[in-house]
Amino acid sequence: MESPHGILFLALIAIFAISSLAQAEDQEGFISLDCGLSPSEASPYTEPDTGLRFSSDADFIQSGKIGKIDASLPKTLKSYVTLRYFPDGIRNCYNLNVKQGTNYLMRVTSLYGNYDGFNSTPKFDLYIGPNFWVTIDLENNISGQTEEIIYIPRSDFVDLCLVKTGTTNPMISSVELRPLANDIYITESGSLRSLKRYYLSNTDTILSYPDDGNDRIWEPKFVPEWKQISTTFEAEANNSNGFLVPQNVLKTASIPANGSAQFNITEELDLPDDEVYVYLHFSEVQSLRANESREFDIFWNGEEFKKAISPKYLKTTTMYSTTPLICKGGECNVELRRTKNSTLPPLLNAIEFYTVIKFPQLETDENDVVAIRKIKARYGLNRITWQGDPCVPEKFLWDNLSCNSTDTSTPPRITHL
Ligand SMILES: *[C@@H]1O[C@H](CO)[C@@H](O)[C@H](O)[C@H]1NC(C)=O
Ligand SMILES: *[C@@H]1O[C@H](CO)[C@@H](O)[C@H](O)[C@H]1NC(C)=O
Ligand SMILES: *[C@@H]1O[C@H](CO)[C@@H](O)[C@H](O)[C@H]1NC(C)=O
Ligand SMILES: *[C@@H]1O[C@H](CO)[C@@H](O)[C@H](O)[C@H]1NC(C)=O
Ligand SMILES: *[C@@H]1O[C@H](CO)[C@@H](O)[C@H](O)[C@H]1NC(C)=O
Ligand SMILES: *[C@@H]1O[C@H](CO)[C@@H](O)[C@H](O)[C@H]1NC(C)=O
Ligand SMILES: *[C@@H]1O[C@H](CO)[C@@H](O)[C@H](O)[C@H]1NC(C)=O
Ligand SMILES: *[C@@H]1O[C@H](CO)[C@@H](O)[C@H](O)[C@H]1NC(C)=O
Repeated sequence: MESPHGILFLALIAIFAISSLAQAEDQEGFISLDCGLSPSEASPYTEPDTGLRFSSDADFIQSGKIGKIDASLPKTLKSYVTLRYFPDGIRNCYNLNVKQGTNYLMRVTSLYGNYDGFNSTPKFDLYIGPNFWVTIDLENNISGQTEEIIYIPRSDFVDLCLVKTGTTNPMISSVELRPLANDIYITESGSLRSLKRYYLSNTDTILSYPDDGNDRIWEPKFVPEWKQISTTFEAEANNSNGFLVPQNVLKTASIPANGSAQFNITEELDLPDDEVYVYLHFSEVQSLRANESREFDIFWNGEEFKKAISPKYLKTTTMYSTTPLICKGGECNVELRRTKNSTLPPLLNAIEFYTVIKFPQLETDENDVVAIRKIKARYGLNRITWQGDPCVPEKFLWDNLSCNSTDTSTPPRITHL
């Protein structure tokens, strides 16, 4: 009996390897930078755990020094092992080539790992172009800090800047950009900062690429008040509602363990006044009989949000907000209530919470930027301040440059060199 199983097992490995290899080829438009990787040292390489192809960051930044996390630390992703740190200058920037107007998922990870032997965790700010994005404070997180945003660049490049705010040196481990479809995750204004992305499953498997072709990271979430239901069938591949939720997310769902209770999930905000966008993904995993039905209403903090949802068998339905929502006291509660004529309790496969982040400062006129970058390249002007947006914010104005940025409704112009 042993050998047929063995053969089957080998065959399965072969199928898995082929399918993951095929997907690994398909990273069109991905930017995956392993910061501090020496370009001569096996760049690009394929990250063994994900199949993602990482390259050195050396072509995208002119400053910084290279470090490596303490080798005695527990094993981590290969892309987090080397890093780039910035002892010189206040603002140091990556200049990344992107497609203007494309929706990008942009992810930055900083893992300190005592690379300098000082056991002194850095704290600094990240900017996108001239706008503040987020503070990175590695004090309480030995596993580093990952920040993620959904952002539409206004030109064909993005300046990602690390700004020194204290005595510690900014540092960065990896930069990842993933183009998304342009008609998903749309806001009225501003960009979306990822707060939580859960799939409701009773496992501890985190899903990302290649399960998710867009390399979104899905954390499992499950509480005792829920019951897991699942299917072995794939959701129909051609029912794409644009969100392209991974099969392994669509195959499992949670329902309330007490069939007559409502289903609810609560998320807390760091800043209670943040505006929120929520995305709920459904796919019926049970083949319902003629006399069965599953129908429910969705409530946001007790107020009706969507009515009479009845997810179809093995087809994805996504319900989301098209205007920003608020969470009283910073508590965001989503509740699914079964309707009167539903014979089955509500079901939910996955949920995503984002907060709105505004980038009010316009970037310097694109033609001016292109011109000054040409001058910089031509004369090899590698001054430490000549990185990022030339004019704004004003405190980071390039040395020996004059700009007019008085009118905040028009892009700043370079007036004098
Ligand atoms: C920081 O640590 C927490 C646990 O304390 C962990 O859940 C989280 O993923 C970490 N944040 C990152 C890696 O950004
Ligand atoms: C998509 O699915 C439907 C069934 O829902 C089927 O009739 C149709 O042929 C499928 N189309 C493609 C392109 O696979
Ligand atoms: C199930 O939920 C209903 C409605 O909330 C409640 O009345 C009932 O006591 C619950 N049953 C159990 C066993 O918890
Ligand atoms: C939501 O569900 C949790 C258990 O998951 C329960 O403790 C809580 O009381 C519920 N809240 C509401 C508003 O129903
Ligand atoms: C539906 O029909 C099946 C048999 O066909 C029966 O066992 C089941 O109890 C019925 N369910 C409901 C909710 O009426
Ligand atoms: C439940 O009742 C409503 C209103 O009577 C109806 O519109 C809906 O189609 C019914 N849903 C199901 C699943 O039978
Ligand atoms: C350029 O700026 C630097 C630093 O602000 C200053 O020391 C230098 O004199 C300036 N050079 C010219 C030609 O203005
Ligand atoms: C700056 O630009 C504004 C229009 O954008 C113009 O009205 C103003 O005169 C300019 N100021 C200088 C000093 O060039």
